Amino acid sequence: MESLISLVNRLQRACTALGDHGEESALPTLWDSLPAIAVVGGQSSGKSSVLESIVGKDFLPRGSGIVTRRPLVLQLHRIDEGREYAEFLHLPRKKFTDFALVRKEIQDETDRETGRTKQISSVPIHLSIYSPNVVNLTLIDLPGLTKVAVEGQPDSIVADIENMVRSFIEKPNCIILAISPANQDLATSDAIKIAREVDPKGERTFGVLTKIDLMDKGTDAVDILEGKSYRLQYPWVGVVNRSQADINKNVDMIAARRREREYFATSPDYKHLAQRMGSEYLGKMLSKHLESVIKSRIPGLQSLVGKTIAELEAELSRLGKPVAADAGGKLYMIMEICRGFDQIYKEHLDGVRPGGER
Ligand code: GDP
Ligand code: NA
Ligand code: MG
Repeated sequence: MESLISLVNRLQRACTALGDHGEESALPTLWDSLPAIAVVGGQSSGKSSVLESIVGKDFLPRGSGIVTRRPLVLQLHRIDEGREYAEFLHLPRKKFTDFALVRKEIQDETDRETGRTKQISSVPIHLSIYSPNVVNLTLIDLPGLTKVAVEGQPDSIVADIENMVRSFIEKPNCIILAISPANQDLATSDAIKIAREVDPKGERTFGVLTKIDLMDKGTDAVDILEGKSYRLQYPWVGVVNRSQADINKNVDMIAARRREREYFATSPDYKHLAQRMGSEYLGKMLSKHLESVIKSRIPGLQSLVGKTIAELEAELSRLGKPVAADAGGKLYMIMEICRGFDQIYKEHLDGVRPGGER
């Protein structure tokens, strides 16, 4: 059976494909209601590194300053066999097998929207990765929180980034992946600060502690990882990503994951927590969690999908048939996806195996 996560992924792509027509229909509401996981944290806290470890690939732009300037909606699709590839929603027929080109396209597409200034834009880039080595998961990478504007950026950028991040994570269906570096005081963590604002009880926040290997000698993260320093409803996960030196030396992701596993398994401080530490564990745990959140939201989502179909039908008849314009064609396509979605939902509920899988 098609996984619930991939069904929601299809809806997410449909909402984005509608683009500028979004304002007029129920789609923004639908998009806002789809469960997703947003990655938040300060600049250089390790957000990109965590995402790449979960995917097991190098594909994100890097560098100093504000590298991520548009939200990146990253949909991971597990396939049974075959070569892994990536696809952008804005380049529907192009399959990327070289992930260095994926990185370049993210950069280029960012510049296309923001015009090579150092501005940010809340218009998301949609990237799908198909691979036998990923779990089904949707993650949204957001610009890193920062405290000061750099050369060439307006002073408002600090508040603009914070507002954009908040607009994603304040939605009740958003799961927050809050990234904090272990070599800084947790009390100063940008991720925890903003997560606490929108989710004071920690009911939908997952704390991830990066850079555990970079802590001062004689200090450790045991109190944090055991939930004694800052309590969240879900257990904290510690990770050890590649250092800058590793990246410069081209240490590959497989080797990095193995080293991370060894690090936790052999460390006297963390041995007792090893089975719930590391990027691999993090990815699996999040996939399971996302699936269960989607399941619990089915009734609400289903009625919203129904409402969206009704509104799209009204919109189509307003445009008049036959629909010649591109706009009408798009609306029609999305309505079809919604209908298919509605159908598969019902089959999920009944436990019946759907016929046509994509
Ligand atoms: P982002 O700005 O939040 O996306 O942070 P990046 O993922 O780009 O990481 C910033 C820098 O910290 C890079 O040089 C990474 O190699 C390094 N880094 C991230 N996580 C870790 C970690 O767990 N251990 C070590 N040693 N370095 C890390
Ligand atoms: Na960075
Ligand atoms: Mg980054």
